[in-house]
Amino acid sequence: MASVDEKSRVYGGMRDSDRIFTNLYGEQDWRLVDAMKRGDWYKTKEIMWMGPDWIVQEIKDSGLRGRGGAGFPSGLKWSFMPKKSDGRPSFLVINADESEPGTCKDREIMRKDPHKLIEGTLLAGYAMRARACYVYIRGEYFNEAVVLDEAIHEAYKAGFLGKNACGSGYDYDVYLHRGAGAYICGEETSLIESLEGKQGKPRLKPPFPANVGVFGCPSTVTNVETVAVAPTILRRGASWFAGFGRKNNSGTKLFAISGHVNNPIVVEEEMSIPMRDLIDKHCGGVRGGWNNLQAVIPGGSSVPVLPIDECSEALMDFDDLKARGSGLGTAAVTVMDKSVDMIAAIRRLAHFYKHESCGQCTPCREGSHWLEAILLRMETGDADVREIAMLEEISRQIEGHTICALGDAAAWPVQGLIRRFKDVMENRIAHPDKFDPQAHFQKAWSGLKPANTDWVTQHGGSNVLNLS
Ligand SMILES: Cc1cc2nc3c(=O)[nH]c(=O)nc-3n(C[C@H](O)[C@H](O)[C@H](O)COP(=O)(O)O)c2cc1C
Ligand code: SF4
Repeated sequence: MASVDEKSRVYGGMRDSDRIFTNLYGEQDWRLVDAMKRGDWYKTKEIMWMGPDWIVQEIKDSGLRGRGGAGFPSGLKWSFMPKKSDGRPSFLVINADESEPGTCKDREIMRKDPHKLIEGTLLAGYAMRARACYVYIRGEYFNEAVVLDEAIHEAYKAGFLGKNACGSGYDYDVYLHRGAGAYICGEETSLIESLEGKQGKPRLKPPFPANVGVFGCPSTVTNVETVAVAPTILRRGASWFAGFGRKNNSGTKLFAISGHVNNPIVVEEEMSIPMRDLIDKHCGGVRGGWNNLQAVIPGGSSVPVLPIDECSEALMDFDDLKARGSGLGTAAVTVMDKSVDMIAAIRRLAHFYKHESCGQCTPCREGSHWLEAILLRMETGDADVREIAMLEEISRQIEGHTICALGDAAAWPVQGLIRRFKDVMENRIAHPDKFDPQAHFQKAWSGLKPANTDWVTQHGGSNVLNLS
């Protein structure tokens, strides 16, 4: 948790001039002409001529940690790529699979500010000495794929990609590849398998992708947001980016807040902003007021849930949320007010992970099924209280015993439920007759006019494509 010095500083409340994603809400066009007015592709050649090692060092100094969920230091990751080729080409792979429930930040970059990502692929790829980049986008993101494809063509036409990219003397290609819609294909080695035309099943590591990645060649798989922020960091300087957020948690970040808030939103804010400020300032608060809050899943569906007392204190960064037994993950914040049946909510997530398990590892394939089966009964009180401990034990047998982290992702929400809402579970089992399924029936929409109706009319929906 926060040190004394860090506690005295108030994080958040970013100025517009410090925002990287200045077209997040689509008020301007996503196309190249407007993108260049926003500062994209400015002196890209000069940045490249500083050299790959300079770029990697700047990213290291900026403190940028991967925005795909695990928070691994990006500069360090980029430095794992070979400096000299053994005859094989190297590749950069952009992870645009974005399938974690609640997570919808990369989508906003791709459809409103695609040139930030495309310029980022050139600079990150050059820093890794990659020959080309593959952007792997989830199949359901059709509009985003159309916009991104068009933006890639614009960049080629302007001479920013292809032979002698940006006049730098470096040849670099970008390919867009649409997935078929499976959560597991967001896991980096599964993504590589899928890109190669096979079933998306994770590989055992080692070898790591930096040694043997896509088509057997050195590769780095990295998230859309991670790469899209790189050009601005390189232009404005590592220390500028490092100036935001607490130590080891630097930078600005896209937060995607959904659930029981008055205005769900994707917003760029300073890392380490208090969770309560994020919700109150940008989402118009919790539906029914802060005291109507029951719990928050702060980082996408796989991280453990936090109850209101923790939420009142939590800072939105990797280390604070970890210290509270949860995680920043993808920074997809799901807010649940007191109308939510917590057992039912976590049971629904258990269903998701069971459905998305690729089935290679027994603990994940079988265990994710058991988690859901037990929770289905517990939700109605049809269980023995000793099964709470059994449920926890199953989750521990999955966690850390599988090929990929989907097993952990299935286990953590259940562990969070037991840690924070055990009394609710015990009470349900003790009084099954008091269970009323209608009492918690969820309505996604209150019936009131959404506060952002005018904005949606002007900028939302099909206006985004604007391909005319
Ligand atoms: C089941 C599963 C799904 C994942 N889905 C995504 C995803 O949709 N997007 C993403 O960027 N990373 C996803 N990841 C994390 C990736 O494996 C990888 O760590 C990430 O793309 C690295 O990018 P970064 O270094 O920029 O954070 C997933 C991991 C797992 C285990
Ligand atoms: S943990 Fe689950 S999703 Fe991952 S490889 Fe094993 S079975 Fe497949």
